[in-house]
Amino acid sequence: MLKKYLYGQPIPTEAIVEDYPVSDEPLCCLAEKIDEDGHISFSAVLAEEDIVYGLGEASRGINKRGHIYECFNSDDPYHTEEKRSLYGSHNFIVVSGKTSYGVFVDCGAKVTFDIGYSDYDRLVITPSVKDFVLYIIEGDRADDIVRQFRRAIGQSYIAPFWAFGFQQSRWSYFTADDVREVVRQYRENHIPLDAVYLDIDYMEAYKDFTVSEERFPHFREFVQEMKEQGIHLVPIIDAGVKIEEGYAVYEEGKAKGYFCKRKDGTDFVAGVWPGRTHFPDFLQPEARRWFGLWYKGLLDDGIEGFWNDMNEPAMFYTEEGIAEAVAYLKAFDFSCNDSNKFFELGSRASGLANRREDYAAMYHTVNGQPVCHEQVHNLYGYYMTRAAAEAFQELVPDKKILLFSRSSYIGMHRYGGLWTGDNQSWWSHLLLNIKMMPSLNMCGFLYCGADLGGFGTNCTRDLLLRWLAFGIFTPLMRNHSAFGTRPQECYAFGDTEAFRGIISLRYRLIPYLYSEYVRACENNEMLFKPLAFDYPEDDIARHIEDQLLLSDNLMLTPVYEQNAIGRTVYLPEPMRFVLFKNAEVIHSEILPQGHHFIHVALDEVPVFIRPGHSLMLCSPAESTAALSSASSLAVTNLSFS
Ligand code: NOJ
Repeated sequence: MLKKYLYGQPIPTEAIVEDYPVSDEPLCCLAEKIDEDGHISFSAVLAEEDIVYGLGEASRGINKRGHIYECFNSDDPYHTEEKRSLYGSHNFIVVSGKTSYGVFVDCGAKVTFDIGYSDYDRLVITPSVKDFVLYIIEGDRADDIVRQFRRAIGQSYIAPFWAFGFQQSRWSYFTADDVREVVRQYRENHIPLDAVYLDIDYMEAYKDFTVSEERFPHFREFVQEMKEQGIHLVPIIDAGVKIEEGYAVYEEGKAKGYFCKRKDGTDFVAGVWPGRTHFPDFLQPEARRWFGLWYKGLLDDGIEGFWNDMNEPAMFYTEEGIAEAVAYLKAFDFSCNDSNKFFELGSRASGLANRREDYAAMYHTVNGQPVCHEQVHNLYGYYMTRAAAEAFQELVPDKKILLFSRSSYIGMHRYGGLWTGDNQSWWSHLLLNIKMMPSLNMCGFLYCGADLGGFGTNCTRDLLLRWLAFGIFTPLMRNHSAFGTRPQECYAFGDTEAFRGIISLRYRLIPYLYSEYVRACENNEMLFKPLAFDYPEDDIARHIEDQLLLSDNLMLTPVYEQNAIGRTVYLPEPMRFVLFKNAEVIHSEILPQGHHFIHVALDEVPVFIRPGHSLMLCSPAESTAALSSASSLAVTNLSFS
């Protein structure tokens, strides 16, 4: 049962696809409070046993209780525990206890969820604006509430089959020869691979929809050459458009008035990779269509996948920000003896990026009226991705194009997937990846994944192996690393056998994974579930955060600690424990309900099969194209009946 409450005059987000009448019943589950300024907040008492799920892309656990989250899309590469905002805003939670309910605050501006942070027994939700829609979903169980919500927000994006292949990325492979070398290494080492990513350096001076002729000559032929080797190239598209006379995207966008404005009506300017840029106003349907159609050139070159980046939008600096910082520095009294001033001095210079003042100075045009960016900030990446998806629908309606974004909002899940941005090569981020998957699924994001091995800082062989052993189950399985970090490709750590074994297992799983994924999209189900969703009466299972159910068949128990020789697992009921090495079963036994220690070496992958279920494995292959051939039809059926 979903109830809709309207506050003020919200700007439509199109997150919800069904048309619900506004409820005239009193608000249930939440108490409403209005402060002197007319700002509304909602609160509820949390009972001892209540678990709070949701918020999609967010820090901390599957159970969100005990922290405060600010849903405001943020370009911040340090996803540490105290962080309140990441790149996506997914304002949906489920309170699950003796009584259960779901809350979705549909609002493009910042919304704060204090989930037992200020007071462990209290939930307080505070939209930063007065115009929003509140949805309350009643149901007996968390999974039922999530299903109702997923139905309301519409079917999740379905990625092409090849996008379940293993993908290799780096910022950057600078030339076509760099890409050829990556492919050669993978193919010669027989490590399966389906895609190589082109980060910003494939472009000419970081200009969207250009390709550097010098570094990637004869691009169309190169795309074809890669396809013949079973490789898809996936170029990045950034939100900002370089200001440069003669550059057609800039000239057209400016002439048509499609860029975001300052208050005085001039085009807003910020510094990003290409230097001074304008931001397309994706909230205008015409601007959206215009930007989307620019993808055509790359589609015509044979490209079948894209990743949209820097679309919070990320701003490195603005002229206004620099002017303020310079004025502050000039006026700084170096003779003062106040050491605290020193910290302010540093933060003035380092705080130029993504300033709230700059977001507040940028304007969109919605139905002919100027709207301050802060009101719709969280919709920007969503609408950029929608621009691309709608263009693909228009340009190549019979083709499935891979598309995912860094910044997101609920609603975007219908147009593309997401990756979880700039994580680090930290063991704690492998665990964060595990915990985030079910939360993302609750909010409709099924085609998603983290940068395997970690984006920032240097990865080690053991971390990459353990991360891949979990990553083989995530729809987006991509190894990506930052400029300046040590090489992180699967052949970069010497011996490749363990990598080959783990990634080959992914390929043996792809037909099973893809069909479960499509089924989950079509039926508004989750692919990754907390154990609590299927074992709500089992108090131990209810609180497990480092094991996940995959669809209805499997339980995953990844190893996520360095130097661990295995891990303790909890079985809510008897299950078949299967251990894989070199993509083959090396051990299989039925374990009884309870706690067990399982040994898992670095090159092994553990899987548990639930009673009455089975796991189908096809023959190994080195690309998804090869998977479709007759030889791979041979199926191994592992079951536990
Ligand atoms: C930020 C993205 O999050 C990252 O994945 C990418 O490599 C860099 N931008 C450079 O484009």
